[in-house]
Formats: sequence, C-alpha cells, structure tokens
Amino acid sequence: MKKVQAKAKVVEKYNLNAHYYVIKVKILNLEKFPTIQPGQFAQIRLDYSVNNSILPRPFTIMDYNEQDQTLRFLIKRVGKLTTYLQNVNVNETINVLFPLGNGFTLSNNSLVLAGGSGVASIILLLKNIISKNFDFDVLVGSKDITLVTFFKKEFPEINAYFSTEDGSAGEKGVITEHSLIKSINKYSKVYACGPEVMMKKIVSLCTLHNVDCEVSLENTMACGFGVCLCCVVKTIYGNLCTCTEGPVFNSKHLIW
Ligand SMILES: Cc1cc2nc3c(=O)[nH]c(=O)nc-3n(C[C@H](O)[C@H](O)[C@H](O)COP(=O)(O)OP(=O)(O)OC[C@H]3O[C@@H](n4cnc5c(N)ncnc54)[C@H](O)[C@@H]3O)c2cc1C
Ligand code: FES
Repeated sequence: MKKVQAKAKVVEKYNLNAHYYVIKVKILNLEKFPTIQPGQFAQIRLDYSVNNSILPRPFTIMDYNEQDQTLRFLIKRVGKLTTYLQNVNVNETINVLFPLGNGFTLSNNSLVLAGGSGVASIILLLKNIISKNFDFDVLVGSKDITLVTFFKKEFPEINAYFSTEDGSAGEKGVITEHSLIKSINKYSKVYACGPEVMMKKIVSLCTLHNVDCEVSLENTMACGFGVCLCCVVKTIYGNLCTCTEGPVFNSKHLIW
C-alpha cells in the first residue's frame, strides 16, 4: 500500500479535558489521497526548524475525509510531542507519514471494546462496520464522562454501552467488569483497543470462550516502518514488528 509523506496544516484543535484533545490536519500538496483501513496509523513529526529533538510518534488515524484531504486524531497528552501538539496553533504545519501498518478485519456480529485513548481506534472501525450493515455492540470504558460525551457526539445514533471508573456514566468500574462482558461468548468477533492490561484480560476471555479477537497494540515505536526493530512483539511466527505486521493482531497469533 502506498505511503504518503506530507506536510499537513492544523485546521482544528480542541481539548476534551486537560488530558485529551482532538486535532484535525489538512494534507497539503497531495495528488491522490491514499486508501486508509480502520486501525492504521500515522507517524507525526514536527518540522526540524520547530524542534529537532522530538522523535516522530505514532497515532491512530481516528478518521479522515478524502474530499477535504483531512485526517483526525484523538490524542492523550503523556509527554513531549503530545504536549507540543496540545498547544499547537491552527495554521501551523506538521509532518505526517501515513497510512502505516495493518488494520482490522471486518466481521459481522462483533463486540467493539475501547478503553481510554483506544477510542481513537474504533471510530473508523465502527463507520466501516455500520456501512456494511453488520450487527455489533460497542462498549466504551473511560475514567470519567469525557470520552463518553465525545463518543456520543461522534455517534448520536448508536445505542452504546459505557463504563466509567468514577460512575459518571454507564456502569461504575473498569471496562472488563462491565456486565456485557459476561456474554462475550455470544459474539463472533471481539475488537479490543486500549491499555494492555485491559486487552490481555479480554484476550484471555476470548480464548476461554473460543471467540475470534483482534487487538490493536500500542508498543513504543521509533521509525514506524520496520527498520529499528524497537516495536517487536512475540508471536507464534516469531518476533514481529508491530509497526509493519500490526498494530492490529489476531490474538491467536500473539504470545503474551
Ligand atoms: C500504533 C500506535 C497508535 C497509537 N495511537 C494513539 C492515539 O490514537 N492516541 C494517543 O493518544 N496515543 C496513541 N498512541 C500512543 C502514542 O504514540 C504515545 O502516547 C506517544 O508516542 C507519546 O509521545 P510523547 O512524545 O508525548 O511522549 P514521550 O515524551 O516520548 O514519553 C512520555 C511518556 O509516555 C510513555 N509512552 C511513550 N510512548 C508510549 C506508548 N506508545 N504507549 C504508552 N506510553 C507511551 C513513555 O514511556 C513516557 O513515560 C499510539 C501508539 C501506537 C504504537
Ligand atoms: S518502529 Fe521501527 S521497526 Fe517498528
């Protein structure tokens, strides 16, 4: 699949709370917008003239608009680049390399699970599932109501399930303790995106009930295209790069 290295202008940026924000960028001087699969990601890099010490970082393409030539990201501030981007001004330019990695396989009768910034990975996935008229349930887990409100705005028509650790929306507690998880065996496929501890719990339940499961890994990356080997994950096929063979893996293939 053809990758694009391009300059992109920030056209929108707003905070959801002190930690999470949404950023929309318009790709500049692009002849043909590439095909993007749900689950694929972009490496974002600052101009060297702005800062040459911050490495490129990977972020899931939350969604895109081919006509406007825009990409949207949902980002949690954790360190240098994510702090820089939270304070970026509209009209500033950044650099993007996309689309990278392999995406999800679409299935009917699925349970889509997202915890925290994992919500970024399910927006495009759900849009694709809905466009195919597939049956699905979706459960979003969050510390508080912030990501619940964001998700409801993105999909006002979906009857989603929610869990929040502070009890401000949906069931109180962590996502893996939500009552829906008890009936995980009724689904043909489970998609899980979020903290590793959450995905591992979901994978072990899917293994127990023999349910097909895909997870999106967020291993630390540097190059993003299979050169530095810093993102390897143990699989039944040996060590594989998360950036080129993932970030989406079928859980059957992972040795966790
Ligand atoms: C394929 C992929 C998709 C991703 N998609 C998203 C997304 O859509 N939204 C989002 O908010 N984040 C996403 N991440 C995580 C994001 O890449 C990191 O949060 C980011 O690299 C941190 O950069 P920084 O310069 O702000 O932090 P740094 O200054 O480099 O590090 C600050 C702290 O964050 C930790 N950190 C660094 N990288 C990661 C990581 N990959 N996961 C967890 N902690 C990390 C470091 O250990 C350190 O403690 C994704 C990661 C991958 C691999
Ligand atoms: S990030 Fe360099 S090989 Fe995956």
